[in-house]
Amino acid sequence: MNIVEIIKKKRDKGELSDEEIRFFIKSVTEGGVPDYQTSALLMAVYLNGMTDGEISVLTDAMAGSGDKIDLSYIDGIKVDKHSSGGVGDKTTLVVAPMVAACGLPVAKMSGRGLGFSGGTIDKLEAIPGFRTSLTEEEFVTFIKRDGIALMGQTKNVAPADKKLYALRDVTGTVESIPLIAASIMSKKLACGSDSIVLDVKCGSGAFMKTFESAVLLAEKMERIGRANGRNVYALITDMDQPLGCAVGNALEVKEAIETLKGRGSEDFTELCYIISSFMLVAGEKAGDLNEAREMLMKSVDNGTALEKFRKFTKNQGGNPEIIENYSLLPQAPAVIDLKSPVRAAVSAIDGEVIGSAALTVKAGRLTKEDRIDHSTGFELFAKKGDNVEEGQTIAKIYAPDEQSAREAKERVFSAYSFDAQAKKEKILLGYIDREGLHID
Ligand code: URA
Repeated sequence: MNIVEIIKKKRDKGELSDEEIRFFIKSVTEGGVPDYQTSALLMAVYLNGMTDGEISVLTDAMAGSGDKIDLSYIDGIKVDKHSSGGVGDKTTLVVAPMVAACGLPVAKMSGRGLGFSGGTIDKLEAIPGFRTSLTEEEFVTFIKRDGIALMGQTKNVAPADKKLYALRDVTGTVESIPLIAASIMSKKLACGSDSIVLDVKCGSGAFMKTFESAVLLAEKMERIGRANGRNVYALITDMDQPLGCAVGNALEVKEAIETLKGRGSEDFTELCYIISSFMLVAGEKAGDLNEAREMLMKSVDNGTALEKFRKFTKNQGGNPEIIENYSLLPQAPAVIDLKSPVRAAVSAIDGEVIGSAALTVKAGRLTKEDRIDHSTGFELFAKKGDNVEEGQTIAKIYAPDEQSAREAKERVFSAYSFDAQAKKEKILLGYIDREGLHID
């Protein structure tokens, strides 16, 4: 068996055998395939897809490419969450401390930015001193003592995904149902949780642009989870514009903290409550979604959720003073306003255009070697359905210099559409569990 034959087979729309998929993943894990051949196969999969059988073998091979995490030291049901990725998605920064404050331990491994979307680990690294690599001992200690720890994917957990993820990020091969399903589920299966809440994003700021494709991805991931004995809730949520106000690492940290203080934007706050409620129900900490929401609201009102955030920031070496003093977060050298040229309603904000504009101010990576500028990005004050006045500041641009700030401003403006009237969309479009698709 050789890699070129496997690439050609997929290029010609063939179905790969179990042996071929396992051989490829083993070779990638061992460093035996050059990046150009791996990228070629990723592109062939992107273009020609995979059968359900191929996806489940790929997931299994990737999950088995490294160590399995044993979470048996945590009492009760272990619940994990994962997002399929989108622009301005900082939910983990809020959801993790909220559910931990309600008594559900969170032992989470998160990823870096992918394509035009951001990643939790890059966001956490905007906090001065924050360490996203922990020893296993530290991870276990923090979870046992404080019920929360967040770290990057270690070398040993699904290492095949780590390599494929980094290559997909820079080869235009992210938006593929088989590759996303296998990437997410291989990591979830390698981490020993019993239940998994998936946030499958849908719309212009997500990899799945339509409801139908998001449902397809959600169904595949739920099925893989169920076949492996996991209880999966795959929520399909609106991402037809960036989530919340902030896009960019330090700016998103600030928005997450504001949300934990009860001052978050409407769409983002609502999504955090929804995901956290499903997690509390899955973990049997709440009898139903209403009870869960009450517990979560209390954790924000009485400050325990914010205290969890403080605790885990401090545990992991981050400066907790950022919570009271945002000027301790990285500050962008150039900041300019984008003002509305019209009195109108915002009818759309193209999420992918905003996400791509964020890459031009270095809030994400264009090549594997790129270093992120944690200070840059955008704040979007006017969202879909909002009425704006002529001359009103609708966004702020944070950039490394004046020139890129001006260029980014043009791009951000091009993402906006205006109309006489526009309405807000609801955030939860439906969810899939073992009983099938539920639409609200
Ligand atoms: N998150 C992942 O871990 N992998 C993907 O492919 C997309 C989002």
